[in-house]
Amino acid sequence: MTDLTTAYMGLNLENPLVPSASPLSKNIDTSMQLEDAGASALVMYSLFEEMIDAEDQRLERFFHQQSIGHGEAESFHPVPPTYTRYQDNYLEQLTRLKDRLNIPVVASLNGISNEGWIQYAKELQQAGADALEMNVYYIAASPYETGVEVENRYIEILQILRESIKLPITMKISSNFSSIMHMAKKLEAAGANGLALFNRFYQPDIDLDTLRVKSKLALSSPSESLLRIRWTALLYGHINMSLAVTGGFHDSESAIKAILAGADVVHLCSELLDHGPERITAILAELEAWMELKEYESVRQMKGSISQRHAVDPAAYERSNYIDVIDSYTTPKGVMR
Ligand SMILES: Cc1cc2nc3c(=O)[nH]c(=O)nc-3n(C[C@H](O)[C@H](O)[C@H](O)COP(=O)(O)O)c2cc1C
Repeated sequence: MTDLTTAYMGLNLENPLVPSASPLSKNIDTSMQLEDAGASALVMYSLFEEMIDAEDQRLERFFHQQSIGHGEAESFHPVPPTYTRYQDNYLEQLTRLKDRLNIPVVASLNGISNEGWIQYAKELQQAGADALEMNVYYIAASPYETGVEVENRYIEILQILRESIKLPITMKISSNFSSIMHMAKKLEAAGANGLALFNRFYQPDIDLDTLRVKSKLALSSPSESLLRIRWTALLYGHINMSLAVTGGFHDSESAIKAILAGADVVHLCSELLDHGPERITAILAELEAWMELKEYESVRQMKGSISQRHAVDPAAYERSNYIDVIDSYTTPKGVMR
């Protein structure tokens, strides 16, 4: 009997497939379908700092106008009784998911600065979240901000969260650091329990008709998984944190490679949005069949067996084979004269 179980930030999961943050968790029925299809945990869509800030400003304007209109008392603010705040909706959805699902639910925060995270993090913990994922979606676009200052943004947010809650915290980071290995060590020292590699930054495009910048969300492509697999393989054994991969995982092959590289969890998003929850069942069946074929008894046994530490050719994960890779390219016939 193949053992698919895996440990992720102290959570014991039935298998390594976990839907990452996406609108799928906004719907309770869909979330239950994900669980039925085999998802071993669920990461919720994020609570966004900008949305909280925007709502605070809207409410402030509203209160201000009410105050001007009602001379009786500064405190007389008839907010409609049905009005629920953005973060309260999130907490309610978390509570509903915890009620209806048996698998762990990971709450997700997305922002770059907000000190108010202390309050939300505590509320998420109280509402029953099993862990917290922090996605620092930050584009370092200032010529005056140094790399260390950018890194400190992540560390400071993490420290705020670490001091506020006991829940395991995973940091969803991008690959845009000069030294991912060192950054990982800094995050570990600041109290992170896991890393999710890597955030996808959505790329703005230029519309050649309107000559305006346009934003369009494109789902991932499978080739993106190799970046995640490489860094998982390099990090494995050097850090004492759980590792999850996210970005470009669409099939059992890439999931298997990620586990061999050292991932505890493989996140799926685009594949589920495109093809539905049942893809989890199919990928799990293929993972199990592959393990039987290769005589792996458990996911734990597989984990990290082709990380840089254990690979037959560890240099292949670094620069050393760069020249070989370039030399191995052959131009298609008839293209070059
Ligand atoms: C429609 C959509 C919504 C997403 N929402 C969030 C979110 O709220 N928070 C977050 O951290 N990531 C969010 N993501 C990113 C995904 O969780 C995931 O990291 C990314 O899509 C890469 O994985 P994939 O290649 O499996 O799609 C979203 C992605 C998509 C496509």
